[in-house]
Amino acid sequence: MDRPPFRLGVLGSGKGSNLAAIADACAEGRLPARVVLVISDVPDAGILARARERAIRAEYMAPGRYRTKLEEEAELAYVDALRAADVEWVVLAGFMRILKAGFLRAFPRRVLNLHPALLPSFPGLEAWKQALDYGVKVTGCTVHLVDEGIDTGPILVQRVVPVRDDDTPASLHERIQEQERLAYLEALNAVFRGPIEWKGRRALVGENTAGAGAAGAGKQTHG
Ligand code: GAR
Repeated sequence: MDRPPFRLGVLGSGKGSNLAAIADACAEGRLPARVVLVISDVPDAGILARARERAIRAEYMAPGRYRTKLEEEAELAYVDALRAADVEWVVLAGFMRILKAGFLRAFPRRVLNLHPALLPSFPGLEAWKQALDYGVKVTGCTVHLVDEGIDTGPILVQRVVPVRDDDTPASLHERIQEQERLAYLEALNAVFRGPIEWKGRRALVGENTAGAGAAGAGKQTHG
């Protein structure tokens, strides 16, 4: 690759295992990217500590008065911070708030999310628990582009996790998280290789696309 590493901004509210996996993959040359900024809406979130341990700039930014989304001014502040850091791709890694149109317009088709279930099953909170309670025999994780819906954007990568009879929510979530780390690397490498070939909602990111140059009727590219 003859371009400089892709500049990633990572948003998260939790312990930061996905951030750690992404940052370590960048450092070890498994991703042609660099995490340049981590932002959390939770002041003592583990993700901030995990970033700082790796000498990555990490900031708590107040989310405002809502519980499930950023207040408008906060959203603008997040966009400004990401832009000031020249972020090219925004990576949501356990960020527990919905991003609105204003944010998404600032990074068109450049915001990725990770969801701990096989979408469109079990969108929303504690998806591993929803899956267990429902009684499915397989679940997994999904990396998708973020659109204005909740966990509705076009899917880039999914990985499957079988549900065991003796699973608890915690044991199932742990195995899903092992797959999440792999799924994010796969999805990020696919978008960096880009442009991704789209057929409607379908992203052709697998071996069949033979890389960025794959031909196909109705090819649309969105980078
Ligand atoms: C991950 O399991 C991720 O799938 C989930 O939060 C966890 C964050 O873990 N995200 C969602 O539920 C989003 N709806 P981490 O902080 O260790 O990366």
